[in-house]
Amino acid sequence: MSKLIPDVTKDKIAGGVHQNKLHDSGHKHVNGQAVYVDDIPEPHGMLHIYMGMSTVAHANIKSMDLSEVRASEGVACVLTVEDIPGINDYSPVKGDDPIFAEGKVEFIGQPIFAVAADTIDLARAAAKKAVIEYEELPAILTIADAMEKGSYVSDPHVMARGDADGTIATAKHVIKNSVELGGQEQFYLEGMIAMSIPGEDDEVKVYSSTQHPSEVQHNVAKALAVPDHAVTIETRRLGGGFGGKESQPALMASVSALVAKATGRAAKMRLDRDDDMVMTGKRHDFHFEYEVGFDDDGVIEGVSMLHACRAGYSSDLTDAIADRAMFHCDNVYWLPNIKVESYRCKTNTVSNTAFRGFGGPQGVFLIERIIDEIAAKLDKDPLEVRQKNFYGVDDNNVTPYHMTVEDNVIHEIFEELEESSDYQKRRAEIREFNKHSKVLKKGIAMTPVKFGISFTTTFLNQAGALVHIYTDGSVKLNHGGIEMGQGLFTKVAQVVAEEFQIDIERVKITATDTSKVPNTSATAASSGSDMNGMAAQAAARTIKQRLTDFAATQFQASVEDVEWLPNRVRVGSEEIAFTDLVKQAYLNRISLSSTGYYATPKIHYDRENCKGRPFFYFSYGAAVTEVLIDTLTGENKITRVDILHDVGKSLNPTIDLGQVEGAYVQGAGWLTTEELWWDQAGRLRTHAPSTYKIPACSDRADDMRISLWEKGKNAEETIYRSKAVGEPPLVLGISAFHAISDAIASVTDYEVYPELDAPATAERVLMAVDRTRKAAKS
Ligand code: MTE
Ligand code: HPA
Repeated sequence: MSKLIPDVTKDKIAGGVHQNKLHDSGHKHVNGQAVYVDDIPEPHGMLHIYMGMSTVAHANIKSMDLSEVRASEGVACVLTVEDIPGINDYSPVKGDDPIFAEGKVEFIGQPIFAVAADTIDLARAAAKKAVIEYEELPAILTIADAMEKGSYVSDPHVMARGDADGTIATAKHVIKNSVELGGQEQFYLEGMIAMSIPGEDDEVKVYSSTQHPSEVQHNVAKALAVPDHAVTIETRRLGGGFGGKESQPALMASVSALVAKATGRAAKMRLDRDDDMVMTGKRHDFHFEYEVGFDDDGVIEGVSMLHACRAGYSSDLTDAIADRAMFHCDNVYWLPNIKVESYRCKTNTVSNTAFRGFGGPQGVFLIERIIDEIAAKLDKDPLEVRQKNFYGVDDNNVTPYHMTVEDNVIHEIFEELEESSDYQKRRAEIREFNKHSKVLKKGIAMTPVKFGISFTTTFLNQAGALVHIYTDGSVKLNHGGIEMGQGLFTKVAQVVAEEFQIDIERVKITATDTSKVPNTSATAASSGSDMNGMAAQAAARTIKQRLTDFAATQFQASVEDVEWLPNRVRVGSEEIAFTDLVKQAYLNRISLSSTGYYATPKIHYDRENCKGRPFFYFSYGAAVTEVLIDTLTGENKITRVDILHDVGKSLNPTIDLGQVEGAYVQGAGWLTTEELWWDQAGRLRTHAPSTYKIPACSDRADDMRISLWEKGKNAEETIYRSKAVGEPPLVLGISAFHAISDAIASVTDYEVYPELDAPATAERVLMAVDRTRKAAKS
């Protein structure tokens, strides 16, 4: 419960920037008071929606009889493509995601119709009564199949610099290989949900669990054939999004709005876990091929890569994701001669979408694998080979897309972490342990990250905010960013508190709302606090300037004499409490409300020629992971993790540490236990926690030592010189994969480099141990 806050005179405000302020809703997340969409009191007569889904991967719909569905108990309406007044599409970019299948289906789980009934059980029971006849068509289910048939959602894209093939041909050492990298389910705790309430005329209000309210607004309006202004989207918080709620929540929102307008009743669509996993997209899995030429020191002279990712049945955000995988194909390494070919495969599976890192982690995975294999071939410590290939600070510092790396700090971070983690000593001890331990083997690896910050689609790099001060001195803050657990709302409130020099308790954080701040970008690309922080600061500064001018006039002083102190303002020798100043300003007809806007500077990109500066800056970090594997069962355990991560000058170290830890664990889960598996009919068989294993609390390493880099300071003028933190540390989970690989290599005394695909599940580790032993004997 908030209460009136007095103007306490003190030296420092509570909750300003760089302070360890707890997440504003942390206590509510655990005591159940945080309101998610499903917790909003349901309007009288609200309908519940269930989706009729395709049961085959690829087919023409020969006939569809929904009469039994319509006649089923409690059913208020059944909608198909015929009932959409506007456009049958909820896609983010290309117009290829039908709300309801029209004539054909392209994956198991594709929505065909919706049934709205008094309860969710009645809706689900009714949906089962549909009689649909299919004419089955050949289905393309894998990347390999799509590559063979040339099935793509867009044209292959190539990025090249120098002469990769020529330098590989003349290099002293060459490795040619391939590796498979699995996808990942976002597994947000709150499933996809939207609740729509019809208003008068063409209006509708939608409560949506989305990272992108403005896009949901456009899609709902498009489906209803009404102007954007008729549709309002409100989102207070998500129970996790992790990228999965960047584009696809538009489906639930559109369907619930269609039902609400068709019936005049409120309508809610909430997917249960199994349906959510079957119907919505995941991280893109990749098939990689590579050829690399290098010298005796392991320095890469030329490298050629093939990226083939699984888009699924439609484009969704695949082009931007596959592009980002290309942008991160270098990670922290200078690759003078490089060619990357990227294929975006169209398959009859769910449309893959954004997931924390957005293709970046996949790009980094490949180059880290290449470096690891080079080190194995030369019998060197991978750490040494990594360092040999680092971008220079003043030279050898241009990325394959011709952006100069101006802020490279990886050398320093690596050296500090090597020292603080005691890497060399522990590596030697591990080798000694492995000599004597027959069944249990240990492994260790240290990997870096450099992550580009900005949306690579340049126009998305803009944000807006709205700030009001009320006459009691309390402040209402609204911006276009979405709170999904990452602490964005807390950070932006800190920025506003700092600007006005008031205690953060005075600042009320409010739900994101398209009628307050319009035309926003998704909260994604880790840029939430960078952009919304700047926009909110701009709004606060506008009001502050008005108050400063007013104070100067009132006290007959110049603006230079006005000083903002904690909870008060000093003008010459006089002091006035913040609340009194605000009240006086109001009585003198000074506006106490303002919008603010921010557009990220310096960025530009020419996609055709792969040239430009797509990123405002880079975030860096490094991790050392130690693992223990059981060579009889293939099980692994992460036993110790050391991380040093650069978040610039942290806006809130407590929250940033939580982000680094969570991201690492999520990255390690992706590469160790989380396996998506479709059967030969194209049915997802890992569609619940019973079969899909995200890391549990017990999987977190008992010994986790995470530090924010103390010297960190953004070289660019970001909000208080902080750096984005949401996605980059996920990439550090790659060190867990390499530590497992290192442990497997020990079974042949490091003679054979293990062929290991990701995720390194117990089965894969066991098979890799077996293969590695056999290869050593042959
Ligand atoms: N942290 C939590 N707790 N829940 C989430 O859903 N999403 C991640 C990251 N951290 C996420 C999270 C993703 S995918 C991104 S892009 C960033 O948060 C977005 O927020 P930011 O830009 O404010 O850092
Ligand atoms: N990152 C994350 N999300 C996005 C991007 C990006 O570069 N582009 C479009 N959505």
